[in-house]
Amino acid sequence: MLSAIRKFISGRWAKVLVFLVSLLPFLYLGLRTYRGQLTANPVEFYQHQTGDWTLRFLIFTLCITPLRKLFHLPELIRFRRMLGLFAFFYVCLHFFTYLGPDQSFNVAGMFDDVAKRPFITVGFAAFVLLIPLALTSTAGWVRRLGGKRWQALHRSIYLCATLGVIHYYWLVKSDIRKPLLYGVLVGALLLWRLFTRFRRRPGAAVAHADVASVP
Ligand code: HEM
Repeated sequence: MLSAIRKFISGRWAKVLVFLVSLLPFLYLGLRTYRGQLTANPVEFYQHQTGDWTLRFLIFTLCITPLRKLFHLPELIRFRRMLGLFAFFYVCLHFFTYLGPDQSFNVAGMFDDVAKRPFITVGFAAFVLLIPLALTSTAGWVRRLGGKRWQALHRSIYLCATLGVIHYYWLVKSDIRKPLLYGVLVGALLLWRLFTRFRRRPGAAVAHADVASVP
């Protein structure tokens, strides 16, 4: 069973499949727009959908390393970059539904809002932190920065996901179940990472430093 999974995820079509599946939330938004099924508040509908998918893709990205290690599937690393870039894609849509329909492309007004409303401040910080991660996600940047510096930079994805959860928690008015669930997932992934890091022998962290082990 495991060898069949390994064979599939190493194959050419697995990447295409992950790409197409990751695109489904976007296609769903397109379809709802085309059919005019955007609820009474279309802007809120777009913001909620794209915000949710950003957080989900951040969590999918963070799941890759634990899954590789727990199920001995190193091949899963092939999907991490793509999932991280999809998180960035959805946060860009999320940001532009805010900047456009919400703020009428008034950049000064947007910065006022970023300074005034804490949940927007935190979401904006997470977005800004994701930009260098998306820009340096290529193999060329791993070479340019060197494995260790690249790793250190890309560890900030944990901070982005944590800020994303705080952003969500702060904006909900009554039902906190969903942000809490996301918080538990991000917390568990962070604890797993800390646990495996401290369990390693002191010298081993340096000797085995490879970009595939982060985040
Ligand atoms: C990594 C960055 C971000 C993540 C993970 C994120 C995530 C989310 C989530 C999960 C929601 C709620 C979705 C729901 O209710 O189902 C949301 C809503 C929202 N986000 Fe973000 N967000 C991020 C960045 C931003 C940025 C940069 C802005 C604007 C500067 C922003 C503005 C908003 C607004 C206006 C809402 C709707 C608030 C409301 O309904 O009252 N977010 N976001």
